[in-house]
Amino acid sequence: MTLKTYFLESEETNINSYKDFYGEKLTYDILKRVVQAKKQIEEKTCKGSQFLGWMDLPEKELQHISKYEEFKTLFNKYDTIISVGIGGSYLGIRAIIEALSIPFEKKQKEIIFAGHHLSSRYLKHLLNYLENKNFALVVISKSGTTTEPAIAFRFLYKKLIEKFGEKEISKRIIVITDKEKGTLRNLAKKYQLMSDVVPDDVGGRYSVLSPVGLIPLALMDVDIKKLLEGAYFIEQIIRKENELEKNPALQYALYRNLNYATKKNIEILATYRPELFYILEWWKQLYGESEGKDYKGIFPTSNIFTTDLHSLGQWIQEGERNIFETLIDIKEDDDLELFSQEDDSDGLNYLTGKSLNYINRTALQATRSAHISGGVPNFTIEIPVLNEYHLGGLIYLFEYACGISALTIDVNPFDQPGVEAYKNNMFKMLRKPGY
Ligand code: PA5
Repeated sequence: MTLKTYFLESEETNINSYKDFYGEKLTYDILKRVVQAKKQIEEKTCKGSQFLGWMDLPEKELQHISKYEEFKTLFNKYDTIISVGIGGSYLGIRAIIEALSIPFEKKQKEIIFAGHHLSSRYLKHLLNYLENKNFALVVISKSGTTTEPAIAFRFLYKKLIEKFGEKEISKRIIVITDKEKGTLRNLAKKYQLMSDVVPDDVGGRYSVLSPVGLIPLALMDVDIKKLLEGAYFIEQIIRKENELEKNPALQYALYRNLNYATKKNIEILATYRPELFYILEWWKQLYGESEGKDYKGIFPTSNIFTTDLHSLGQWIQEGERNIFETLIDIKEDDDLELFSQEDDSDGLNYLTGKSLNYINRTALQATRSAHISGGVPNFTIEIPVLNEYHLGGLIYLFEYACGISALTIDVNPFDQPGVEAYKNNMFKMLRKPGY
């Protein structure tokens, strides 16, 4: 098994540890609901069951690796890829790219994100920056009508034509959108742009293992086959195993819902690896948009430790006890060994011979223990090493557990009606026709 889980400080996640902590009755009540939710997902009888396509993506997309290879070959000549999109059409891509990139390494090919906010400063300087770049665009929007990426795309499309001429648009743009509907699909048809489809039955925040994520990742030389294989491996475990001890999605969903039922309604997803920053951002969208409905749901937030121990550590240790923690623990890291200094003027000689990763993971263990003693429960997902394979597994685990968690509190995990409220107001104020 590629992912290992721990509850509190026990070496194994089993029902007894939950019972001891949350009480027998509550543990079994919630376990029953969690198991039922998984059954409803598998039988496709749950709320939002028309959006369960994400479950089969690993196996399905593994059949299409050659298509992604073709896109990669066609786009290899460009030095800059601009990925235009927001929410589920943005976060997963950035999460994987950043998790795998090597700090300070100057790459031959660069990816830039756009359309994920409305900052004119950002877009203006991006357009200037592109002046000397041999760039191409991947524009992603399931609905094909989202304002932020639509505005960015209008500017970038014009820039592309100004710089390379109209004849290049069919060679330098990939559109990923609905197969029939939306402005982007119309544009792709009209100008015969290269395109791919966001499957009907896959919602935005569950789409990173579909063409939405796989095309830009393949263009940036991410090993998407490994990513999908890792996801498929975890899929087999999660979907086949019905025993709590063997199923990390059941464990994580049970843990979250036990906390929610005991008035802990804020979850901190934490890691000691800063390269996971955007994985945490992606997870926040996944859980926030899936669960926060009908005036219910756990508020998802995130921390990078040890950095945030020097800002929010105090609150976590001694603030209001309405929080619980989930930890992503990556065992291996590039290593550096502490060396001794003759005069020990910085007092660090006691660490001589110890690796920096060992010190970082000691900080993790020490903090986890302090938080648990301070009344902050902990669930740890341990991953041996950060690579495509294990990221694929982690993504699948989070997606499946998210579906189970939301259904356990009787919420539809796959819609997002609340997102429309700000848009309606904004469109009215901007006098968009029809609003
Ligand atoms: O999960 C979702 O469906 C949303 O968060 C979308 O990903 C986001 O709003 C972007 O939508 P679209 O891909 O239609 O531009």
